[in-house]
Amino acid sequence: MTVTRLGPGRTLAAVAVAVVLTSALVGPVSAGDPYAYFDWDVSYITAAPLGVKQQVIGINGQFPGPIVNITTNWNVVVNVLNDLDEPLLITWNGIQHRKNSWQDGVLGTNCQIPSGWNWTYQFQVKDQIGSFFYFPSTNFQRAAGGYGGIIVNNRDVIPVPFGKPDGDITLFIGDWYSKNHTDLRKMLDGGKSLGMPDGVLINGKGPYRYNDTLVPRGIEHETINVHPGKTYRIRVHNVGISTSLNFRIQNHNMLLVETEGSYTVQQNYTNLDIHVGQSYSFLVTMDQNASSDYYIVASARIVNESIWRRVTGVAILHYSNSKGKASGPLPDPPQDFYDKTFSMNQARSIRWNLSAGAARPNPQGSFRYSSINVSQVYLLKNVPPVVINGKRRATLNGISYFPPETPLRLADQYKLKGVYTLDFPTRPLKGAPKIGKSVINGTYRGFMEIIFQNNDTKVQTYHIDGYAFFVVGMDYGEWTEDSRGTYNKGDGVARSTTQVFPGAWTAILVSLDNVGIWNVRAENLDAWYLGQEVYVRVVNPEDTNKTELPMPDNALYCGLLQKFQNEQTPHHRASSSSITYVRGKLVVLMSILVAMATFT
Ligand SMILES: *[C@@H]1O[C@H](CO)[C@@H](O)[C@H](O)[C@H]1NC(C)=O
Ligand SMILES: *[C@@H]1O[C@H](CO)[C@@H](O)[C@H](O)[C@H]1NC(C)=O
Ligand SMILES: *[C@@H]1O[C@H](CO)[C@@H](O)[C@H](O)[C@H]1NC(C)=O
Ligand SMILES: *[C@@H]1O[C@H](CO)[C@@H](O)[C@H](O)[C@H]1NC(C)=O
Ligand SMILES: *[C@@H]1O[C@H](CO)[C@@H](O)[C@H](O)[C@H]1NC(C)=O
Ligand SMILES: *[C@@H]1O[C@H](CO)[C@@H](O)[C@H](O)[C@H]1NC(C)=O
Ligand SMILES: *[C@@H]1O[C@H](CO)[C@@H](O)[C@H](O)[C@H]1NC(C)=O
Ligand SMILES: *[C@@H]1O[C@H](CO)[C@@H](O)[C@H](O)[C@H]1NC(C)=O
Ligand SMILES: *[C@@H]1O[C@H](CO)[C@@H](O)[C@H](O)[C@H]1NC(C)=O
Ligand SMILES: *[C@@H]1O[C@H](CO)[C@@H](O)[C@H](O)[C@H]1NC(C)=O
Ligand SMILES: *[C@@H]1O[C@H](CO)[C@@H](O)[C@H](O)[C@H]1NC(C)=O
Ligand SMILES: *[C@@H]1O[C@H](CO)[C@@H](O)[C@H](O)[C@H]1NC(C)=O
Repeated sequence: MTVTRLGPGRTLAAVAVAVVLTSALVGPVSAGDPYAYFDWDVSYITAAPLGVKQQVIGINGQFPGPIVNITTNWNVVVNVLNDLDEPLLITWNGIQHRKNSWQDGVLGTNCQIPSGWNWTYQFQVKDQIGSFFYFPSTNFQRAAGGYGGIIVNNRDVIPVPFGKPDGDITLFIGDWYSKNHTDLRKMLDGGKSLGMPDGVLINGKGPYRYNDTLVPRGIEHETINVHPGKTYRIRVHNVGISTSLNFRIQNHNMLLVETEGSYTVQQNYTNLDIHVGQSYSFLVTMDQNASSDYYIVASARIVNESIWRRVTGVAILHYSNSKGKASGPLPDPPQDFYDKTFSMNQARSIRWNLSAGAARPNPQGSFRYSSINVSQVYLLKNVPPVVINGKRRATLNGISYFPPETPLRLADQYKLKGVYTLDFPTRPLKGAPKIGKSVINGTYRGFMEIIFQNNDTKVQTYHIDGYAFFVVGMDYGEWTEDSRGTYNKGDGVARSTTQVFPGAWTAILVSLDNVGIWNVRAENLDAWYLGQEVYVRVVNPEDTNKTELPMPDNALYCGLLQKFQNEQTPHHRASSSSITYVRGKLVVLMSILVAMATFT
C-alpha cells in the first residue's frame, strides 16, 4: 500500500502496490514471508515551501515521498527509476538488512544508479518493528527532499505495549534552505559553511503564519486533522540537514512510546529534542477543548533563540469541532540557554521497556547487554571542520573519509586489493588530519564499545547502518575509562541514531552479529558530505554462505569493476510523455472519490 496525500492532513491508503503471499517471484530473500512491491519514479518537482520556487526531489510526484507501510519479516521490493539529472542511491535509515549490506544504498556497498536508469532494491525487514525513514544518500540530495517514512508494524501474534491508536500520523521535520542542493554543494565544495537555514519545514511545507512579521504571506502550511477524544500515534522524523529541533504540540502531552525500533518506557513530555536523523513515536490524546486550533512547533535548539526565531516550523492541529484558528504566541521552548544539562537529562530519560516484546515474543530486556564482555573499543572524535590539501573537510579521529570509486563490499567480493585499508585507529590520530579510506576491522560476533567524543561547538548525531546499538552513557567533558562507572547497565535504549552534545561524549555498545560492510556516519549532512564517516567491516571467518546473502544478480558495477556493467537504455519517465501526468490526475481523482466515501 502507498499513502496518497490529499491535502491538509488527510491521508488515504491507495492500492498502488500489490502485497502478495508468494515466494517464487524474486531472489534469495526468505521464502514464505509476504512481499510488498513499490514502483518509484524519483524526479524533480517544483515547489516553494518557503515562498521561493525551487526544484525539490519527489517520488511519484510526491514530496515527502510515499510511506512504506509493512510488517515484520516482509520482503520489500522497490524498483527505483532515477529520473534526476545526476546519480542516485536510496538508503533506509534504521532498516537493518540482516546479512544483506548489498541493499543498504550507500557508497560503501552500492554503485550509484546512473541518471535515467532504474534499479530494484530487494530486502527483508527481518525481526524489526518501528518507525524509520528513507532518503537519497549521496550528492547532498536529502537537502532537496526525496525522503519518506517507513513503518514496520508488529506481527499480529506479538502484542504492542499500548492500545491500538485511532490513527497513525507521520511528521517530517527538518531545516531547509531556499538554495537548492546543487548550490549548497557548491558552497561546501568551495570551502564555505552553509550558514543559518531559511526555515524549518513540516511535511514539506513552510510555517503557519503565526506572526505577520516573521512569516510572509502566501506560504502553504501543514494541517493535521483530528477528532476530539481520540488518541493518535504520531511518528516524528528529523530529516533535516544539521539543525536539532525541539518538537512540541501546544497544550498536549506527548507520551513517548517508541524510538527507532525499540519500545521505550512510556513517559509524557511537553516537548522533546529531536536531532538530525532521529525518529520517535508519541501517543497524543486529543483531550483539550476545541475553542481553537493548536500549534505544532519544531524550533531550532541549542542556539540563540532570538536570532533563530525566524527558523521555526509551525503546523496546525485542527480538531474536527474546532471553533477557530490558533492565535497568540507559540508555546515556549525550554528556557535553558545557560543550562546545558536540560537536553542531556531529557535524552537520558529515554529508556528501554525491558518487559515489552518487540519484533519477537521474548521481552526486549531478555538481551542483557551489560553481561556481555566488550571485545573492541573505539573512541571516535570529531573536531570543527579542518583544511586538508586546501579543502575544507570534516574528520573522525583525524581522518576524512573519501569514498573510493569501487564500493568496498564489491571490492571484497572480487578480492580486489588496495581499494581500502583495514586500519582505522581506535583513538584519535596525533598530527595533521588526512584524507583516508580507512575502515574499522570489526570482529564477527564481537561486542564493540564506541565512544563518540564531540569537540565541535554544535550537536552532532551519529548513525550506524545494519544495527541497533545500546545508548549507555553521555556526559560533558572528555571521556575516560572511569566514565564507564556512569553507564546505564540496565535499560539503555537500543536505537540506530544518537546525539552527541558539543563538548560532550556519548557511549554505545553494539553486538557485531550482522555480516557485511556498514556505514557509520554523521547524520548532519554537511559534516557527512565533507567526510565525517567510516565503515565497519564484519566478516565471518568461517567459509559459509549462511551468514551473508550472495551478491544480487542486478548489482551495478563501477570503479575498477566498471567493465562488467552492461548498458541500460536510459528512460526518463516524466519527460517522455504526458501519460504520467494524466495517470497522476486519475489516481488523485479516484483517491478523492474514495476519500469522500471514507470520510463522509
Ligand atoms: C539550482 O539553482 C541554480 C541557480 O541558483 C541552477 O543553476 C541549478 O540548475 C539548480 N539546480 C537544480 C537541481 O535545480
Ligand atoms: C498500514 O497498513 C495496515 C494494514 O497492514 C493498516 O492497518 C494501517 O492503517 C496502515 N497504516 C498507515 C499509516 O497507512
Ligand atoms: C527496471 O524496471 C523494469 C520494470 O519497470 C524491470 O523489469 C527491471 O528489472 C528493472 N531493472 C533493474 C536493473 O532493476
Ligand atoms: C512496558 O511494557 C509492558 C508490556 O507490554 C507494558 O505493560 C507496560 O505498560 C510498559 N511499561 C511502561 C512504563 O511503559
Ligand atoms: C512577531 O515577531 C516579531 C519579531 O520577533 C516580534 O517583535 C513581534 O512582537 C511578534 N508579533 C506578535 C504579534 O507576537
Ligand atoms: C500522560 O498525560 C495524560 C494526559 O495528557 C495522562 O492522562 C496520562 O496518564 C499520562 N501518562 C503518564 C504515563 O504519565
Ligand atoms: C479552552 O482552552 C483554552 C486554552 O487552554 C482556555 O483558555 C479556555 O478557557 C478553555 N475553555 C473552556 C470552555 O474550557
Ligand atoms: C542572542 O542574540 C541577541 C541578538 O544578537 C543578543 O542580544 C543576546 O545577548 C544573545 N543571547 C545570548 C544568550 O547569547
Ligand atoms: C567476561 O570476562 C570475565 C573476566 O575475563 C569472565 O570471567 C567471564 O566469563 C566473561 N563473560 C562472558 C559472558 O564471556
Ligand atoms: C581483523 O580482525 C580479525 C579478527 O577479527 C583478525 O584476524 C585480522 O587479522 C584483522 N585484520 C587486520 C588487517 O588487522
Ligand atoms: C576541544 O578540545 C580542546 C583540546 O582538548 C579543549 O580545550 C576544548 O575545550 C574542546 N572543546 C570542546 C567543545 O569540546
Ligand atoms: C557459497 O556460494 C557460492 C556461490 O553460490 C559457491 O560457489 C560456494 O561454493 C559456496 N560456499 C560454501 C562454503 O558453501
